Amino acid sequence: MALLEIIVAPDPRLKKKAVAVERVDASIANFMDDMLATMYDAPGVGLAAPQVGVLKRIIVVDPARDGAPPSPLKMANPEIVWKSDETKQHEEGCLSLPEEYDQVTRPDKIKVRYVDEHNEIRTIYADGLLSVIIQHEMDHLEGTLFVDHISNLKRSMIMRRLTKYKKLEQAAKRHALETV
Ligand code: NI
Repeated sequence: MALLEIIVAPDPRLKKKAVAVERVDASIANFMDDMLATMYDAPGVGLAAPQVGVLKRIIVVDPARDGAPPSPLKMANPEIVWKSDETKQHEEGCLSLPEEYDQVTRPDKIKVRYVDEHNEIRTIYADGLLSVIIQHEMDHLEGTLFVDHISNLKRSMIMRRLTKYKKLEQAAKRHALETV
């Protein structure tokens, strides 16, 4: 198992559309495990392949809260086949937008069809946190971030902060390299 590097916004790689997986073979199943390990390490409740620089339609999620037993889902080619008219607002964050949070409104309940880690087609209903996470991760496959659902003003404030954050991170990395 390997930990992968999570791309931080703004980055053009987070704005691209991911392509379908033809078949979930051993190498894709391994990649799903690496994604899950990376997500738990971060720690986060969801991760999409484009966030680690792989433009494939793969997401991993685990809505289990602290202390609850892990309940990971590994999904290739997820597709929303039904969504409720009823919507719900929820505070979202993203591993690619560290320390940024805002309220996003999405359909409350969804039905999702996907291919699992054994290349089997599955369909699940999701509501609550699981529904939010799946929709958030599926957005990444279209090059959409949660900030694309909020006002321009709030989005540009967040992006400005992240640009500054990345500059500081890069400077810290350079400094660490120079001092070893
Ligand atoms: Ni995200």
